[in-house]
Amino acid sequence: MTADEIREKAKRFLMPSVIQYYAENLAVESAAGLRVRGADGKEYLDFFGGILTVSLAHGQADVVNAVQVQVQRLSHLSTLYPNEPIVAVAELLAGMMPAETGISQSFFVASGTEADEMAVMLAMSHTGRSELIALRNGYSGRSALAQSLMGHANWRVLPQQIAGIKHAAQPDCYRCPFGLTYPNCELRCAKDLENLIQYTTTGQIAGFLAEPVQGVGGFVVPPKEYFEVAVGIVRKYGGVFIADEVQTGFGRTGEHWWGWEHFGVKPDIVTMAKGIANGLPAANCMTTPEIARSLPRSTLSTFGGSPVPMAAARATIETMQREDIRGRSKRLGTVLRDGLLAIQARFPHTIGQVRGLGLMQAIELVVDEKAGDRTPNTDLTARIFEATRRRGLLIGKGGRWGNVFRVAPPMLISEAELAEGLGILEASCAEAGAT
Ligand SMILES: Cc1ncc(COP(=O)(O)O)c(C=O)c1O
Repeated sequence: MTADEIREKAKRFLMPSVIQYYAENLAVESAAGLRVRGADGKEYLDFFGGILTVSLAHGQADVVNAVQVQVQRLSHLSTLYPNEPIVAVAELLAGMMPAETGISQSFFVASGTEADEMAVMLAMSHTGRSELIALRNGYSGRSALAQSLMGHANWRVLPQQIAGIKHAAQPDCYRCPFGLTYPNCELRCAKDLENLIQYTTTGQIAGFLAEPVQGVGGFVVPPKEYFEVAVGIVRKYGGVFIADEVQTGFGRTGEHWWGWEHFGVKPDIVTMAKGIANGLPAANCMTTPEIARSLPRSTLSTFGGSPVPMAAARATIETMQREDIRGRSKRLGTVLRDGLLAIQARFPHTIGQVRGLGLMQAIELVVDEKAGDRTPNTDLTARIFEATRRRGLLIGKGGRWGNVFRVAPPMLISEAELAEGLGILEASCAEAGAT
């Protein structure tokens, strides 16, 4: 099919609610390494990795080989019968959890949404309670429960809500919900959890679900003491801490496997998806044997832990270990961040903030940072976004107003490719009228 045919059929046969990027849909044909090829033959450098799912590189040889071998050997039988791929990945993941967490058991599913659903189920069964705290500006997925956990108006499809979920203030120092400045704020956003629990719940909470770095929310990094204080309050009221590592897991934030490790806390339950299998649909919820035992009966995810995605996950994780992806993400994340800071230095009025951890960095576009006007600059964001596409670079958007660019390339990116993409981004900012 030509690019136009793909676009036309997408319009006719896919629901209009299927989200698309760009003024004119970008029809894709193939991808290899860091390069994506459009159906019209145009090539793009990929700085978004299919929303942080392609964690290594497109078509990474070990993953492709593992998938090919596995699909011929055994493609699916469900978790009714354990097999080597699922137990091998479960064992690898148990080894990636810091020992002090006690987390060693997995329940595989097929999406981040389902992983979060499982985490909530476990929190409820373990505590015997049902009220939950989530974060404003958080993203959890698209089921009824995930939509209710969501703290992001753009992504709430219907107004109906599942009861018993309260949303705490987002730990966002650039747009502090209390109008305060770190560190003089004395962590007001974290301490407010106590007020939220005391005044809006029965005081008997099941748990607190949070992304260590808010992904869809625009790569918002909380102050470093945030989770220690927040999780301390949650535990005081009997709740467990669910770390949603769907975007931050697998070395994405640099130095560590998991985002929470930057914040000096340990979770009780961890969810992961996206980067786990370099783009194949796999996800997982992990916890301690004690919490896992609390579920009163068995439960099934038909495609959870299916052999082909598990073979891909095994190859992905082994490659990450071999390539020291945590160290690589830290090192190249610094290069990326420095590059973005240099772009900000050239356009200090409209690039309000550069933020992120590891190979998960964002820039937020505002009307005039120098003049103290942090109004989201959505027009400029749209112009830069279209310019990056024309110039052959794929990046992500995010944030409450869609005025944040998310840069999270496949982690086997080279320094030369990083420099190339940063060059395109800078030229796109200039072309679009950033100041
Ligand atoms: C932090 C986080 N949690 C959960 C989800 C839901 O994952 P999925 O889209 O695989 O259901 C996402 C998806 O973007 C996410 O970013």
